[in-house]
Formats: sequence, C-alpha cells, structure tokens
Amino acid sequence: MAVASSQHESSSGLPEGVARLHLQIAGHFHGMGPTGLGMLQSQDGWVLKPVQSPPRGTRELDFYDQVFNKDNRDSVILRLRKLLPHYAGKCELEIGSETIPYIKIENITAQFRQACVLDIKMGQRTFDPLASKEKIEYEMSKNRYAQNVGFRFLGMQLYDGVTGRYASFDKQWGKQIRENDILLALRSFLGRCPCDRGRRVAVKQFLSRLEEVRSWFLEQRLYAFYASSLLLVYEGGAARSRDARSKVEGSRATEEVGSHTDLRPTDEEPCIFCENLYETDTGAYLQDGVNRRRWTDVRMIDCAHVFPSEERDDNYLFGLNKLIDYFESV
Ligand SMILES: Nc1ncnc2c1ncn2[C@@H]1O[C@H](COP(=O)(O)OP(=O)(O)OP(=O)(O)O)[C@@H](O)[C@H]1O
Ligand SMILES: [Mg+2]
Repeated sequence: MAVASSQHESSSGLPEGVARLHLQIAGHFHGMGPTGLGMLQSQDGWVLKPVQSPPRGTRELDFYDQVFNKDNRDSVILRLRKLLPHYAGKCELEIGSETIPYIKIENITAQFRQACVLDIKMGQRTFDPLASKEKIEYEMSKNRYAQNVGFRFLGMQLYDGVTGRYASFDKQWGKQIRENDILLALRSFLGRCPCDRGRRVAVKQFLSRLEEVRSWFLEQRLYAFYASSLLLVYEGGAARSRDARSKVEGSRATEEVGSHTDLRPTDEEPCIFCENLYETDTGAYLQDGVNRRRWTDVRMIDCAHVFPSEERDDNYLFGLNKLIDYFESV
C-alpha cells in the first residue's frame, strides 16, 4: 500500500507527481463538491479514484479486487479484465492533514497524444437495487431518451488539431440531447478527418470493441452493472497542427471558409489527420516516430454500482445493442 508523503507536496496541495484528472468528463471533480474529493491522475499513467463512503466506494473496490485477483482464473473473469482499465490495488494519499484511500486504475487516455473522449452511461435503469426513492426519482428525471435507447451521453472532450485546443462538452450538453440528436452527437464526437478515413477506421474499431463487450455480456451471469459507463477514446492529435492551420489559412485566401470540412483534399491520399494511421490485423495504430499508439480504445468504467447477479444483464445489453445499431448507421 503506497502512501505518498506530504513532504513532497506540490503547489496544488496534492502530493508530487499527482494532479487533477485531465480530460475528466463526469463524476466527482477534485476540489469540488462537499468533500472536495475527486478524480486524480499520476504522472506515470494511473487514475486515482477516491474510495467513496460505503457502501458504494467499498463496493467498487471489492469488485476490482475480485476481478483482478490473481488466483481467479475463471474464463469469464479473465475476459472481463480486458474490458476494464487495469487495476493496481488501493493506495493512499496524504492530502492536507488527511490520509485518503484511492482506487488505482489505468488512465485510458494516457496512451494517446491528444485523446478525444466520450462517456456513455449504460442502462435503461441507472439506479441500483438499494437506491432511495429520491435517488430513483432523480435518475428517472435525467433519463429521458435513456428509457428508449438504454444509454445516455454524459459528455465529451474533443481536441481540435487546427487550433490546438480542447472543446469540452459537459453534462449540460448531455442533458440537452434528445433521441433525434444521437446520431448527430456521435458524428460530432467522431471528429472531422477531412478525407474521412480516420473516422471510418474509428467507427470500425469502436464497433469491433463494442461487439467484444456484447459477447461478454451475453455469456456472463455474474454481475448486474448499474450506472456504469463506456469510455470511448480515439486519437485526435494525429494532425501536424501547423500544416492543418496553414491549409485552413491557404483556403481562406481564396474563399470564405467557416468550417474545417474545407480541409477536404481533392485526391484519395490520406489527409494530414490520418496520414500516420496504420491498420493491421490486430487493430489500428498511430505510428508516432518510433512509438506505435492505438488509434482507439473502449473500456468499461465506473463500477460503483455493480451488484452480484445470476441472470443476464438485459438492462445493460439493451443499451449496448442500441448503441451498436447507432454506430452501424453513423
Ligand atoms: N480509467 C480511466 N481513465 C481515464 N479517465 C477515466 C477513467 N475512469 C474515469 N475516468 C474519467 O473520470 C470521469 C468520472 O469517472 P467515474 O464515473 O468512475 O467517477 P464518479 O462518477 O466520480 O464516481 P461514482 O459514480 O462512482 O461516484 C469519467 O467521466 C471519465 O472522464
Ligand atoms: Mg460516475
């Protein structure tokens, strides 16, 4: 159990090497809310999620402990491990005068140069069997189209290769979406590779991963996942931004352009957004100098409301089937 020493505190009051989670979409933000406890990240590629008060925090910790227990060789569990962020146990941080327990999981966005991220909460029903009447009403009020489609968008973070900035779409954005907007929202998440190859590859990779998740859910009879999310990530920083900018400026000189779709090249060559994208039998990669990075990733996150079960999780599967349908028609 690692304890970071407060002797090495940084200016943020957090231990050295630890910061607020970059690219966080939903949930508890560090420094906000009644406890001020929220997601953190470490320099070496981990997300630190505070163990919330029992039962939810301990439930999540117990879930990860069970799934990542080395002695557990159950084939269903082994397959589940690959769908979750890797788990490295519990750790503690000294913040101010307090010692706070955290769950240490792999930072899914860390391997990307500029990750574009979408958080999708799964399930028609997002309250667990122990939820209070108030919690049930609250969740139902947020649900709207989730009743019909079995998922809802919590928010996204998009990198703009032209400006070199992130645009963040928070929970207000998520709340405004109606069922009719789902395709449009997915398309805007998928970015705007001008020649469309990057987007096509991303959709293909997302679909193959979502199929993997579905096949696991069709087989497993161990858990019911309430209020859990799928985190979808793709590489948004493949473009050489100076080239992107000069291309926009060049086209502005000849015609008034307002949208980035004007970057569309005239020939069939991959554009500057996807020229370093390679597809192999094992997936799609960005060849970044000597580094090979994944082009996309999908993981199941937020396991604070996972309950033991002996039935198929039709609540999750319903939304997953619909989500796959949407991706197929993007
Ligand atoms: N493994 C991860 N890698 C990268 N980002 C993550 C990871 N896990 C979570 N996040 C980010 O943090 C946000 C919040 O995560 P999560 O939903 O697990 O926490 P929470 O809502 O605060 O917790 P809870 O619902 O358990 O109270 C997500 O929307 C996502 O942006
Ligand atoms: Mg959450």
